[in-house]
Amino acid sequence: MTDRKPGYTTEVPYPNVYHRELNPSFHTMALNANGLAAPSRETPYTYLELGCAWGLSTLIHAAANPDSKFVGVDFNGECIAAAGEIAKEAKLTNVEFLQADFADLPGRVMPPFDTIVMHGVWGWIDQTGRDHIVRILDRHLKPEGHAFISYNALPGNAPVDALRRLLQVGFELGAEPLFNKVNAGVGIAAQVKDNGARFFAAHPMMAERMDHMIKPAPRDYLAHEYFNADWQPFYYRDVEKVLAPIGLQFAGSAHLLDLIDDAQLPEAARRHIAGAPTMATRETLRDFYINTLFRRDMWRKGTVAQTKDSQDALMATRFVVGQGVEHFDRIAGHAMLGEVRPKAEPGRAIVAALEAGPKTAVELSKDPTLASVELAVILETLMVLAAVGAAEPILPEAGLAARKASCQRLNAALAQRTLNAARTGGREWQSLASPVTGGGIATNAVIQAFILARHQGVEPMAFAASFAPDEAPAADVQEHIRKLYEVFERESASTFGNLGIV
Ligand SMILES: C[S@@+](CC[C@H](N)C(=O)[O-])C[C@H]1O[C@@H](n2cnc3c(N)ncnc32)[C@H](O)[C@@H]1O
Repeated sequence: MTDRKPGYTTEVPYPNVYHRELNPSFHTMALNANGLAAPSRETPYTYLELGCAWGLSTLIHAAANPDSKFVGVDFNGECIAAAGEIAKEAKLTNVEFLQADFADLPGRVMPPFDTIVMHGVWGWIDQTGRDHIVRILDRHLKPEGHAFISYNALPGNAPVDALRRLLQVGFELGAEPLFNKVNAGVGIAAQVKDNGARFFAAHPMMAERMDHMIKPAPRDYLAHEYFNADWQPFYYRDVEKVLAPIGLQFAGSAHLLDLIDDAQLPEAARRHIAGAPTMATRETLRDFYINTLFRRDMWRKGTVAQTKDSQDALMATRFVVGQGVEHFDRIAGHAMLGEVRPKAEPGRAIVAALEAGPKTAVELSKDPTLASVELAVILETLMVLAAVGAAEPILPEAGLAARKASCQRLNAALAQRTLNAARTGGREWQSLASPVTGGGIATNAVIQAFILARHQGVEPMAFAASFAPDEAPAADVQEHIRKLYEVFERESASTFGNLGIV
């Protein structure tokens, strides 16, 4: 069966993944980290996600921000139906999922949005689709509103574009159904690589990608990533040119690792970029120095100006840690030019202090263990921790009880589906909503079982074991789950506690 909308694979849905950069509270912190003013998330807001697929990010944000209004749009009916069912099960009355084509939205009557986000959409559709997105941003984003757009970037993706051409040749020769065609695409490229093609010698990263595809990577992911009729990487400048006429200005990267230039750029490159006369020059130089593969950019409808208030706002932001100090050595992220880690000191002391409860940089500076550390260094370290995903900004205390109640309902609905899928096969929903951060956290089926059992007041290990696949031997399963429960208790129960999830 071929059911392809012009330019987009609709036979198989995209995997369901939570994206932290789509979290409005995270945006606020990222805008501040870019030196810009940012909307407070204490006032209710409106939020639209374009191409939301299964709606996991929008569901999580809706549950964690019950006073705000959320809309998720995708033309994939299976995904939208599932997202809508989960919203209903979780009794979320502040979210709507629309099965619609972007083409239908510019003319649709909708409330104006404070935030419009899209992840993995801009470069995965055809030019007509992008034109519709620009009209949506023009028509439905409020003045002073913010957009988030991620895309595969150039020059990093130049060889990926070439590899995709080769994959497509095999795909077109392959027989239906879709996954056969995907395998035919991967097969032809693997053969070219194995026969010693110079393309792969010249681009070792493409050889690595082929190894990953052969391994194999999930076919639904590959279908969307490499086999859409339209897939296009962009130079920053070309995106800016399209968004400037509708009044959108670049408001910095939401990928905080991008802000840690020390980790990515040699001194001469930093000086060169700092001296660039325009944003387009600056970002272009950066993308060439780094060979950027993926951009996660924020845009503001209106003027963008640096403000000192952003520093005060960051100082007043409370952070929570995602792991205990005993795992400090595991805290690391990967920037384009290598690994980024927080400095051991004051990193350890900060993580230890945050483990005891969320704090601002100013509050941390009053902790006896950090008394001799300058406030600027504390803030810088917090930013590194946030950039590598080890710390998250949190929402204000007010409203926490209501947020907890709606997150608990959503988390129960997600966990129940994940556990049913673990037993009988099907789609797992591997993130849960945090009423503390307003965003999601990645989990797995077993952890979801332990958390759900605690909420239901039943014995966690027996509860988790009841979802093991039928064919698994009972004694082995019980022993395995007992060990996993020990690890959960020791390593992650307190984290989920700090995040308001257990
Ligand atoms: C690559 S997936 C990304 C999904 C999700 N945002 C994520 O990053 O996990 C792109 C999504 O956009 C949707 N999409 C593509 N073209 C669309 C259109 N013209 N109208 C509505 N949805 C569209 C697809 O169905 C798909 O779910």
